[in-house]
Amino acid sequence: MREIGQIAVVGAGLMGHGIALVFAQKDYSVTLYDINRPILERALLQIRSNLETFVEVGLETKERVEKVLSKIRISVDLKEAVKGAHFVIEAAPEDLTLKMNLFEELDRYCSKETILASNTSTLPISEIGRKAKEKERLVITHWFNPPHIVPAVEVVRGEATSQETFDISFELMKSIGKKPVKVLKEVPGFLINRIQTAMSREILSLLEKGVAEPEDIDAAVKGSFGLRLAVLGPLSIMDMAGLDLLYKAMNYLYPFLDRSTEVQKVLGEKIEQGKWGLKTGKGFFEYEQKEASALSRHSKERDKKLLSLLKTLSQ
Ligand SMILES: NC(=O)c1ccc[n+]([C@@H]2O[C@H](COP(=O)([O-])OP(=O)(O)OC[C@H]3O[C@@H](n4cnc5c(N)ncnc54)[C@H](O)[C@@H]3O)[C@@H](O)[C@H]2O)c1
Repeated sequence: MREIGQIAVVGAGLMGHGIALVFAQKDYSVTLYDINRPILERALLQIRSNLETFVEVGLETKERVEKVLSKIRISVDLKEAVKGAHFVIEAAPEDLTLKMNLFEELDRYCSKETILASNTSTLPISEIGRKAKEKERLVITHWFNPPHIVPAVEVVRGEATSQETFDISFELMKSIGKKPVKVLKEVPGFLINRIQTAMSREILSLLEKGVAEPEDIDAAVKGSFGLRLAVLGPLSIMDMAGLDLLYKAMNYLYPFLDRSTEVQKVLGEKIEQGKWGLKTGKGFFEYEQKEASALSRHSKERDKKLLSLLKTLSQ
């Protein structure tokens, strides 16, 4: 693998600051870019808080906190931020024009050897990179929230992505302790969001039909295949269940499953009522009203549980 030591993360929001933390924890030098300094300073505070959660669950030591933070430099000058970077990850807003313009600039500022990756959740890299000249060095590395904890990263190849770019990106994700998965074709939603959305469609349909209450749906999934999936993948679970049995069950059930091509009304109504979830205090459930502090408390609790689970699973 080519020597990669210098990383640039473009966009220091929800995903960008978590991605920067993972690289810094593995001793890479990271430059974190955003459009203004207050955003970057907030990102650094959040990175520190996330590191403290790692310390609380015993996955980092107190002594390492300052060392890890010292690996991250902030910048509001894009050209300067990516200078000398071997690998650039863009985590800017999900807007095609914005990303296209960014990639045109990145393509100009970076040396030919630099790999340019996007963290887009939905957009094809062939579109994002339309204005870039060196298209073979473009790739998607799609992380999941919270990026400093969730192991999977989808490495998605575009029409022009070279085998070398794809392989280096995959190996780099492995080198920082992630569990990268190869997505060999540019399909909308890639792999994981397609699977997740298929499940969400059925859940919303069951909710709309009044088959179960929200708390029971959550409890049912958490207490059954949700728990199992942390240990065994869905295809391994199928093998364990017996494919002959599954074949019969699926043949019977498929005609009853939701096949809507429009999002269910139950979700649209929530949006209209301003019930947008934790950030507005109400969604499928109700939360305390102080949104910013509630959001950060719930995130912290989630992170601690996820880290403890990962620690147990890795034993
Ligand atoms: N939020 C998720 O759960 C999630 C998961 C996987 C992938 N993604 C993808 O990651 C990307 C970032 O999402 P996010 O949730 O971190 O968004 P965010 O809004 O939290 O962060 C985006 C950051 O980009 C900055 N920004 C704005 N204009 C910019 C520009 N021209 N150049 C560079 N930075 C700019 C913003 O100031 C902000 O800090 C999106 O493409 C999104 O689809 C998000």
